[in-house]
Amino acid sequence: MSVEVRRVRPEEWRRVRDLRLDAVRDPAASIAFLHSYEAEAAHPDEFWQNRAAGGAEGDAVAQFVAESAGEWIGTLSVLRREPGSQDHHGRPVQTPRADVVGVYVRPEHRGQGVVDALLEAGAEWVRGLGGNSLALDVHVENVRAQAAYRRAGFADTGLRFTGSIGAEMEMARPLHR
Ligand SMILES: CC(C)(COP(=O)(O)OP(=O)(O)OC[C@H]1O[C@@H](n2cnc3c(N)ncnc32)[C@H](O)[C@@H]1OP(=O)(O)O)[C@@H](O)C(=O)NCCC(=O)NCCS
Repeated sequence: MSVEVRRVRPEEWRRVRDLRLDAVRDPAASIAFLHSYEAEAAHPDEFWQNRAAGGAEGDAVAQFVAESAGEWIGTLSVLRREPGSQDHHGRPVQTPRADVVGVYVRPEHRGQGVVDALLEAGAEWVRGLGGNSLALDVHVENVRAQAAYRRAGFADTGLRFTGSIGAEMEMARPLHR
């Protein structure tokens, strides 16, 4: 299976929406994503147009998709944060950081390295902008995601917190140049 990983394009907002709506209906969604299907499905087209445009261009956010035979089989986004801003949990950001969010691989394409290729694309993007680490939050019960992240070089930072979906842990990996 040949898989291409690339950033989304602004005009692909319908595909961005449809993949997200599939993700938030995944059986693991309650320990994976901060927003419910109902909340995501209620957004107007403009929300998805902005989401795709934001993920496609600029240095603040990048959304990557894995494409195989024309089908979008996985995605993740990277959010770069400046000190003084707030992260996706509303926590103050003290030092520049880059967080991986919205990680999803379609069930029929799991276990084939798609998540590794997506994480590497995110890491490469952050590295190219001078970043030296990549972080993410994962639910303590989402052991499959944790194992995939560990394989990709992420380690438990020891930080634990309770977010809107329950008990979460932080994982991070250094980005070597
Ligand atoms: C998380 C996700 C992107 C990982 O991608 P994936 O293709 O499934 O990952 P992989 O199969 O390559 O790796 C999963 C690891 O978990 C292990 N694993 C699989 N099922 C498991 C289970 N039930 N319990 C524990 N470990 C499990 C696999 O053996 C593998 O570890 P290994 O490489 O050490 O053998 C994908 O499962 C997904 O989209 N899940 C639903 C959404 C989600 O949870 N997103 C993450 C939010 S933080």
